[in-house]
Amino acid sequence: MAQYVLAIDQGTTSTRAIVFDGKQAVVGSGQKEFKQHFPKSGWVEHDPEEIWETVVWTVNEAIRKAGITASDISAIGITNQRETVVVWERESGKPIHNAIVWQDRRTASYCDKLKRQGLEKTFTKKTGLLLDPYFSGTKLSWMLANVKGARTRGARGELCFGTIDTFLIWRLTGGKSFATDATNASRTLMYNIVENDWDRELLDILRVPEAMLPEVKDCAADFGVTDKALFGAEIPILGVAGDQQAATIGQACFSPGMLKSTYGTGCFALLNTGKDIVRSKNRLLTTIAYRLNGETTYALEGSIFIAGAAVQWLRDGLKVIKSAADTGALAESADPAQEIYLVPAFTGLGAPHWDPDARGAIFGMTRNTGPAEFARAALEAVCYQTRDLLDAMHKDWKSDDRETVLRVDGGMVASDWTMQRLSDLLDAPVDRPTILETTALGVAWLAGSRAGVWPDREGFAASWARDRRFEPSMDDKTRAAKLKGWRNAVKRTLSEV
Ligand code: G3P
Repeated sequence: MAQYVLAIDQGTTSTRAIVFDGKQAVVGSGQKEFKQHFPKSGWVEHDPEEIWETVVWTVNEAIRKAGITASDISAIGITNQRETVVVWERESGKPIHNAIVWQDRRTASYCDKLKRQGLEKTFTKKTGLLLDPYFSGTKLSWMLANVKGARTRGARGELCFGTIDTFLIWRLTGGKSFATDATNASRTLMYNIVENDWDRELLDILRVPEAMLPEVKDCAADFGVTDKALFGAEIPILGVAGDQQAATIGQACFSPGMLKSTYGTGCFALLNTGKDIVRSKNRLLTTIAYRLNGETTYALEGSIFIAGAAVQWLRDGLKVIKSAADTGALAESADPAQEIYLVPAFTGLGAPHWDPDARGAIFGMTRNTGPAEFARAALEAVCYQTRDLLDAMHKDWKSDDRETVLRVDGGMVASDWTMQRLSDLLDAPVDRPTILETTALGVAWLAGSRAGVWPDREGFAASWARDRRFEPSMDDKTRAAKLKGWRNAVKRTLSEV
């Protein structure tokens, strides 16, 4: 039996498809960026049709580059930007509105209203999340209230709601499968993570008709087969997980206490807490890490909205750097005497502050400040924010089993300078794996193991290999001074100050 597995990684700024062989090596891939729509300040949308086109294109490209055909592929895994909302017509498959992206802040005042009604506790108890516009529920509410006839049509069962995974499963199977997985469901603000089901009370509060919701499956399950007309053969979809959960799996963080952080558009740190639903006292999220064979493993999550996006802003907005890959070298050449702090609150601040109204700020500039100092400030901001998340995690999770090593992945971790600075500011070791396609690998494992062509969990975990460990080398006094400067900068950026 062919051991090839195809992973579709539908991210915030681009779609990627990757073919892995039976030894989990990448043998072909395709990538395509798509347009970001910013119709108003703080609003972010994607065109679902364009996303769909990038999926079909990248899958064909990956198969072609691998030199195989669709019938050689045993299984597909889908991983995706989480929380982003799509609503489409059940009959035609046509979206009724652009997708509202996780970064979109349009429901900030609605979240405030719900908070004023004293409802945050109810949402947090049931979903592990907070009332922030980041999550799908209030975005879906907005769509139902603002697209003519949507609420009535939704209640009649004429419309389907999905995060991106659900929309893609629907399209790939020619409308035969309407499903999501537990990790994606856990980000919607409508899914009860204790009972593992959609929550009627929350749906009523958000005025969402249950008829619109997909079936929630395990992460490794039968999600249907692709329409033969698409790629030339039917391929079973056997794995689905939100991208941060897929990265947790790809990093083989299977034991309680293991911790990973992924540096993509944003940065998301997940700590595996096993069967325990750990309630954060420090404004972290409690979420589903994965659900396998009906058994749920939970995680504490810290979410930072801007990581790689700050580097993109330096390149495309300010035009002070030529390529993202050069940022580390440029940062290294920055003047050590200048302490510049960039707080990249471009779309508000996520954990642990949750301030949707904060906006970006930069502190400490002098006449000598130039591109190198900006580059260093952008990269350090990512490290400082990771430190804030880990501090909060350590307060919430006092287990002796806690790992102190952070496994990292995502585009930014290719920079040695950034990873060294991360280790220095965390005052903890940072492990970079040999395979940096962690997110795609994680979902490929879900699909490949389900198909019976890839190893089981233990075998897969044993194959995780380290490329390099970064150990802290900054002296305590310097670290303490830098952290103090950062905390002061954040305080001055928060909206209520
Ligand atoms: O929660 C949002 C997250 O899933 C987006 O991930 O990789 O597109 O930054 P990424």
